[in-house]
Amino acid sequence: MRVAWAFTGAGHFLKESVMIYEKVAKKHDVTVLMSKAGEEVLKMYGLYDRVKKFTGGYYKELVREKDQEYSFPITGRFSLGRYDLLIVSPATANTVAKIVHGIADTLVTNAVAQAGKGRVKTLIVPVDIKVGKNETVLPSKLELDLCKNCETCKAAAACPTDAIIPGREIELLKCIGCGSCEKACPYNAIVGGKIIEIYVRKIDVENTKLLNKLECVEVIDNPKKILDYITSFS
Ligand SMILES: Cc1cc2nc3c(=O)[nH]c(=O)nc-3n(C[C@H](O)[C@H](O)[C@H](O)COP(=O)(O)O)c2cc1C
Repeated sequence: MRVAWAFTGAGHFLKESVMIYEKVAKKHDVTVLMSKAGEEVLKMYGLYDRVKKFTGGYYKELVREKDQEYSFPITGRFSLGRYDLLIVSPATANTVAKIVHGIADTLVTNAVAQAGKGRVKTLIVPVDIKVGKNETVLPSKLELDLCKNCETCKAAAACPTDAIIPGREIELLKCIGCGSCEKACPYNAIVGGKIIEIYVRKIDVENTKLLNKLECVEVIDNPKKILDYITSFS
């Protein structure tokens, strides 16, 4: 099967999506599309290299929005029907809102629009499914109540990208989620994978529901179900 997998900038469902992507990429040709935010968060959560590892070659490219200009010529492949399936997992509130309102000004929203024109099925895993409290996972975080603001910060010294401002915060755009800081801090002041509660907004869930009205689009509520879908498809 020839698949395209789009990663957008959601921390929620990100690790789960990467785990399923790896399974799919072992068996099928997968082109990876990354929104700018998708690339950033994959790096922050230490997952970028895991995705990149399976790319390389014709129809197995890593297509980064960062490298694209405004017209996204690569998405012409979708309007020409060159793929069996486009998967967007995870899909941010932002990407979902744009898709349901016919906006196609990012790599991923443009791919979905072109897929519709080429009658290529799009499978979307939105992050916002039910209004109300939901748990989500953070990238590495400096806990200031545990930080002793040491004269020489061992965590900062261990960081390969100088992402840590001692006694203050982690600059997430520099962070590659390698976890070296967590191991180096003797006070366990850096925590990776912390679970927090957030509130899922009504507008985002309403947009998710609108996805069901789009032609050639199918919504699933968990990345794990992608495998079942692919098995039934092939
Ligand atoms: C660490 C981190 C985690 C994020 N997680 C989410 C998320 O779970 N859901 C979401 O809708 N946006 C999330 N965002 C915000 C999006 O990345 C942001 O809205 C971005 O503009 C989305 O762009 P995209 O839809 O083109 O990928 C997160 C941002 C950061 C820095």
